[in-house]
Amino acid sequence: MTPEMSAVRLHETGGPQSLRIDRTLVPEPGEGEVVVRLRAASLNHRDVFITQGLYPNIRMPVTLGSDGAGEIVALNGDSLGLRTGEEIVIDPMLGWGNDPSVWDSKSSLLGMPRDGTFAQYVAVPAANVYRKPELLSMEEAAAIPLAGLTAYRAIFTRGALARGETVLITGVGGGVQTFVLLFAKHAGARAIVTSSSDEKLERATALGADLTINYKTVPDWEKRLRSEGPIDLVVDSSGGETLRKALDAVRPGGRIVVYGGTNGDATIKMFPLFWKHVSILGTSMGSPQDFAAMLELFRSNLRPVVDRVFSLRDAVAAMQRLANADQFGKVVLRID
Ligand SMILES: NC(=O)c1ccc[n+]([C@@H]2O[C@H](COP(=O)([O-])OP(=O)(O)OC[C@H]3O[C@@H](n4cnc5c(N)ncnc54)[C@H](OP(=O)(O)O)[C@@H]3O)[C@@H](O)[C@H]2O)c1
Repeated sequence: MTPEMSAVRLHETGGPQSLRIDRTLVPEPGEGEVVVRLRAASLNHRDVFITQGLYPNIRMPVTLGSDGAGEIVALNGDSLGLRTGEEIVIDPMLGWGNDPSVWDSKSSLLGMPRDGTFAQYVAVPAANVYRKPELLSMEEAAAIPLAGLTAYRAIFTRGALARGETVLITGVGGGVQTFVLLFAKHAGARAIVTSSSDEKLERATALGADLTINYKTVPDWEKRLRSEGPIDLVVDSSGGETLRKALDAVRPGGRIVVYGGTNGDATIKMFPLFWKHVSILGTSMGSPQDFAAMLELFRSNLRPVVDRVFSLRDAVAAMQRLANADQFGKVVLRID
């Protein structure tokens, strides 16, 4: 008899409530793939957007989830030195390609179209599997991949953040932005952060943020920042009005790195863009080189920020927390 597993699957869009816990078949490894018994997974805003039908080319039914950590239980073909029983973390970027400067147009993300990590087992290419940093729990390791990778590429590969520079991080409560704060402080930068919540700003201060501003109670924060010294780099995924204000706040010759548009498209002023010689840089996910370098940071004493751990069967409540922007850091699913 073929073994079965529990998986959180989407059959129709309509928000987080439309997710179902199904019994489905344990996947077999294809050529060059491994099967992982997942112990933890984590949520990204992408998962929420997919349940809401706000993502291109949605294929259903599908098991959602890009991030996961667990043990290898089966291998097929070239195992790249991996062994069964090994504790690993998964790079969700599938088929980046050979050019480190941009992904291949055929690349995709684990967790739609390919079945993802909100399940007891997942099959992935062996090349996407990395040894789990020993000091991290499964929950901590599962919190890292997509958000850590996006943050690493945003501030280092694209943003070229240097020690002593000042970075502005808009909406620090988000999964990716919390990693941006961690990495910026680790790199010896000064970090200014904004959030909609004073409680989240307090948590950011505890992580090393040097200056905090509530963008709800101080809507003209970009004017307030004029007296706080030059801002070398802005990292943003909010878009809309926030990007327009970021252009005002950044110093002449500064950089703005953008990896999302949660609040929609932005209309920006042309004059400050060219007069200030500002560079606006797009980025998405990251290359295998970015992933390996990012994970290396967690082999010392760096720890991801885990907001809350839910069990797999409570995936709807976990996703609702993200949809409401209640989290600070990463929302994780424990998988028994
Ligand atoms: N291109 C890529 O590779 C890539 C990768 C990952 C994510 N993304 C995109 O990036 C965005 C964030 O993803 P995530 O998973 O980190 O989401 P998340 O954990 O749900 O975080 C979203 C955060 O956005 C912040 N925000 C909302 N409105 C804002 C505003 N007006 N000004 C400033 N901040 C605002 C909030 O911060 P506060 O709670 O602090 O107010 C919120 O917590 C999404 O659009 C996602 O699709 C893109």
